[in-house]
Amino acid sequence: MVRADVDLVADIGEVLLEEDAIQARVAELAAQISADYSGRQLTLVSVLKGSLPFMADLMRHITIPLRIDLMEVSSYGGTATESSGLVRILKDLSSSIDGSDVLLVEDIIDTGLTLNYLLRYLRGKNPASLRVCTLLDKPARRLVEIPVDYIGFTIPDQFVVGYGLDYGELYRNLRFVGVLRPEVYSS
Ligand code: PRP
Repeated sequence: MVRADVDLVADIGEVLLEEDAIQARVAELAAQISADYSGRQLTLVSVLKGSLPFMADLMRHITIPLRIDLMEVSSYGGTATESSGLVRILKDLSSSIDGSDVLLVEDIIDTGLTLNYLLRYLRGKNPASLRVCTLLDKPARRLVEIPVDYIGFTIPDQFVVGYGLDYGELYRNLRFVGVLRPEVYSS
């Protein structure tokens, strides 16, 4: 159930990335991707739910033909702010990616455990190529090294919400990325 009394903006202690900055960077990434994948069979695979706003903005800035597909995974055994590396597929690809140039679109790479699992899984589907685009990268928390081809912003080790990212499933609809006030965790 949605807690209707939450004041989303008031819960933010610091805005890390303003809406304008996000939109400008997404356009830059899309231009780079459009150039790099020109003449190829581009399929964007978005990992729900956090990457939804990023995916929607990124694909609309890309100027070459593309297909999209959606996966949803959840890590289990972790906490509200920490992933565990144990990944369960809640929604699988709808179509074959055999022979496609797949670009995996993520909102954030933290420990890298989710991505590590997904890359192994997708490699098994025989794509022509497989690369990664993430809006946010938090390298300080990485537990497994994975190549990331397109990075929107590298951020410090703070728990962020907004523009798709949640705490307790809320805050995803904020148009900026911010850091929650500490008292929000403890209440
Ligand atoms: C987030 C994010 C990545 C993962 C990154 O998803 O979208 O998939 O965590 O963390 P990691 O690098 O430590 O594995 P989350 O499980 O919060 O699901 P959501 O996208 O539905 O919010």
